[in-house]
Amino acid sequence: MAKASDWQDVGDAAELAKQPLAQVAAGKTLVALSFRDGKFHAISGVCNHYGGPLGDGTVKGDYVECPWHYYKFHHATGLGEPGYEEDRVPAYRAKVAGGRVLVDLASATRRHKTPHAPHPLARRIVRGEGPVRVVGVSTTNMTAKHPRYSTSDALLDVALEHAKTLGAETRSIRLRDLKFRACEGFYSKGAGACTWPCSITQMDKTDQLDQVYEAFVHWADVFLISTPIRWGAASSLYHRMVERMNCIQNQQPTAGKVLLKNKVAAFVVTGGQDNVQAVAGEMLGFFAELGCVFPAFPYIAHSRGWSAEDMENNVRFVRQSEELREGARGLAARAVGLAATLLQGALPVAKHVRGGRKSHALDGLAPAGPRGGRTPK
Ligand code: FES
Repeated sequence: MAKASDWQDVGDAAELAKQPLAQVAAGKTLVALSFRDGKFHAISGVCNHYGGPLGDGTVKGDYVECPWHYYKFHHATGLGEPGYEEDRVPAYRAKVAGGRVLVDLASATRRHKTPHAPHPLARRIVRGEGPVRVVGVSTTNMTAKHPRYSTSDALLDVALEHAKTLGAETRSIRLRDLKFRACEGFYSKGAGACTWPCSITQMDKTDQLDQVYEAFVHWADVFLISTPIRWGAASSLYHRMVERMNCIQNQQPTAGKVLLKNKVAAFVVTGGQDNVQAVAGEMLGFFAELGCVFPAFPYIAHSRGWSAEDMENNVRFVRQSEELREGARGLAARAVGLAATLLQGALPVAKHVRGGRKSHALDGLAPAGPRGGRTPK
């Protein structure tokens, strides 16, 4: 028989009254305890969405706002915000006795989650029939009104054209044409706060990185990615894209899912300054961690070196170089060839083992943080 009451001590009343909201434990149950107008109110400390810690959020008017993706629940009733009242978390009776705050777990109202339509990117990943698909991603920046010749773009275009002649379908994405926000560090709030698709993509319909996610996760077999060298590193647009791809990599430690399978990556790196090997190494390292594989000689590059600041000569050199164009065609051929082999299922499917990999659980230590989408209590 259910208990008539189950009062649990959650802490010192004077201390808890100093803050408008606190995440406290009532036995094993997490509670978001708010204090206003001399009174305590208690609702569940576990958000309906991905299990975010509501008590670590913010009080906005009558509502507690989740710190992860900003869902709101009434601080006293647990109801969702107007229009979403049925998406509610449990609310509890709370009182002060003997200088302690007590929460009655037996008074919990029912949790109810209103199902939200999943984002289109969250659909099952199925590679249908068809020829090898190649997406070229340019990470070069320039103004749309006054375009200029980009050596890395030019070689990427040659590679894509060649992929077509090999029977591949191609798509081209220029990051400079997309409006997308920088990664806002959801993973740093909690491992489960970084979701697939990216939390920003799910919340912001105007963010256009969904086109890159669609191409990488659902469409392409080959990623050809070009970058200029900027101060010895890949471009700022490349880095903005890569940071937003945390959500793809994070699915491995947080949900045990590998989103990219049988995907081939290859790179074009050019610049008036040095550091080709470091830029290519960085790109290889990141795409390896996503699960991509690489053809032999997975990048082509060109730089006239540290002392070459005469960029007009660099551009002239690349424009005239049939050898570099031939190199771009060779890169495309190696990548498409490897993808075709993978599509035929030539590689054995290996068990997904995490030992020694990024975010693997160390012996004797807890594995990486809470899993996304955990079921709230
Ligand atoms: S809004 Fe709370 S977990 Fe997403």
